[in-house]
Amino acid sequence: MSDRPPEIQEASESDAVPQIVVTGASRGIGAAVASELAKRGFPVVGLSRTGDVPVGRGVPCDITDEGALAAAIVEIARLGPVVGLVNNAGLHTTGPTAELSVEEYDRVMRVNATAVMVASREIYPHLKANGRGVIINLGSFFDKIGAPQQLAYCASKAAIGAMTRVLAVEWARDNISVLNVAPGYVKTDLTPMWSDEKALAWLAKRVPMRRGGEPAEVARLIGALFSEDIPFLTGETIYIDGGHALNH
Ligand SMILES: NC(=O)c1ccc[n+]([C@@H]2O[C@H](COP(=O)([O-])OP(=O)(O)OC[C@H]3O[C@@H](n4cnc5c(N)ncnc54)[C@H](OP(=O)(O)O)[C@@H]3O)[C@@H](O)[C@H]2O)c1
Repeated sequence: MSDRPPEIQEASESDAVPQIVVTGASRGIGAAVASELAKRGFPVVGLSRTGDVPVGRGVPCDITDEGALAAAIVEIARLGPVVGLVNNAGLHTTGPTAELSVEEYDRVMRVNATAVMVASREIYPHLKANGRGVIINLGSFFDKIGAPQQLAYCASKAAIGAMTRVLAVEWARDNISVLNVAPGYVKTDLTPMWSDEKALAWLAKRVPMRRGGEPAEVARLIGALFSEDIPFLTGETIYIDGGHALNH
């Protein structure tokens, strides 16, 4: 009898196709990325706490549980070669830093940064064995902005830029590219501003493109990076924010 989680059905050899793992694929940008990759012909395995994904195979996994995340990647790799990872899952919190608890700071860092390290570390041997791999991390334009009351989030996204650079250099010899896609405000549940007229008016003034981004726009960038497959492009942070961070 198999002791594997029932959610993961073993594939027959004939459908052991290369897979891309997307964390946080149940909604928002991750769901759009999963759909875009599937549209481009890449089989997707989506991780999230619910395990619900719009396309592909869904695996329930809390990525802050190191053992569960490692086990999920081992199981996924049994189904076929793993060629890519999108470290997308994330959370956002706000509040005055004078009242920020270590517990809250750690909660944000565990999802947004520590889990990215763990998922990348666990997927590395599979990408290496494959002879080529792409890891795309979801950073944020907040990585270089002093956004008040968002210390933990900003710190976690700055860590993503740093991890992207380190992993790109460390794993280049294995033909693995690591990139940081860093969006501006995108229309998802992460930021509760999309039904707030005042916030939208502020955005229209602040962002040169005069709007928030669509999840599909971020997904198309990530889909293009996988489709075009440019190994020499590595370690970079690619901002996709309608010019927001550049604006005076
Ligand atoms: N939206 C923006 O404006 C924006 C801007 C810049 C950067 N980003 C970044 O883009 C990424 C995606 O953001 P989003 O806006 O799409 O967020 P979202 O709509 O809130 O979705 C977050 C996703 O992460 C998953 N998730 C959260 N905690 C998890 C955990 N412990 N284990 C497994 N999965 C978990 C959620 O799935 P479950 O609830 O099913 O677990 C969900 O699929 C994040 O890294 C975010 O920081 C977003």
